Amino acid sequence: MGKTAVITGGSKGIGKETAVLFAKNGYNVAICARDEPSLRKAADELTQINRNVFYQKCDVSKSNDVKDFVANAIKKFVSIDILVNNAGIFGLDYLADTSEKMWDDIINTNLKGMFLVTREVLPLMLKNTNGHIINISSQAGKIAFPMDTAYGASKFGVVGFSRCLAEELKETCIKVAIVYPGAVDTPLFDNVDKRKMEGFPPREAFLKPAAVADAVFGLVQKQSGYIEEVDVV
Ligand SMILES: NC(=O)c1ccc[n+]([C@@H]2O[C@H](COP(=O)([O-])OP(=O)(O)OC[C@H]3O[C@@H](n4cnc5c(N)ncnc54)[C@H](OP(=O)(O)O)[C@@H]3O)[C@@H](O)[C@H]2O)c1
Repeated sequence: MGKTAVITGGSKGIGKETAVLFAKNGYNVAICARDEPSLRKAADELTQINRNVFYQKCDVSKSNDVKDFVANAIKKFVSIDILVNNAGIFGLDYLADTSEKMWDDIINTNLKGMFLVTREVLPLMLKNTNGHIINISSQAGKIAFPMDTAYGASKFGVVGFSRCLAEELKETCIKVAIVYPGAVDTPLFDNVDKRKMEGFPPREAFLKPAAVADAVFGLVQKQSGYIEEVDVV
């Protein structure tokens, strides 16, 4: 049946590019996202490359969605060898202007979502004594920026989550990795107020999503330690 990669947020940007790379390399690919039309479009594109594609609408911040998505991915592909926790949202604001909704949306998607998906996938990886869990943080997960308390907290949180998970799993065959991309040209920024992005490099200088996909795939090919951390800048 071949190896399987589950990639959350696989309908756009970094997640889609990563799904394409895994599909090109013969992996079965399972992707999820909230918006069904763009998810279906991405799945159609992936199917042109490799017909072993599974997709399901799923909000990673909702445990029932996550349970259902992972259960169906396992039903389809039997094993899960790679988990790329990529789904994420972005937002910039001064703390005083950060609404409770903005805080909850960012933390629940970027951090709680990672916990929920990993918790569903891990038992199968442990049973199979095989697996790579690759978590997408950000340069904002190691460097402090203004207007970034919510997003920065989520991405620093991803680092804490991943390092603790790696410690917990270091006697097993499951590897954990953290990827820290710099600014990447994806739809993530489409709805951000440009005035808040004055400190960013010009959009044309942003990395391409393929650079992050290459780093993720490279980790799967080469990773030897129980935890690996990679900058993509
Ligand atoms: N772009 C950058 O500069 C950059 C830099 C560092 C790190 N990152 C991180 O890289 C990851 C991917 O970002 P990107 O730039 O590729 O963003 P993107 O182009 O906006 O894609 C985000 C993906 O995540 C999905 N998603 C968002 N919320 C979700 C939820 N609650 N449940 C399931 N899927 C969800 C989106 O689909 P739906 O909206 O349909 O759900 C989409 O497929 C994020 O974790 C981001 O923080 C990005």
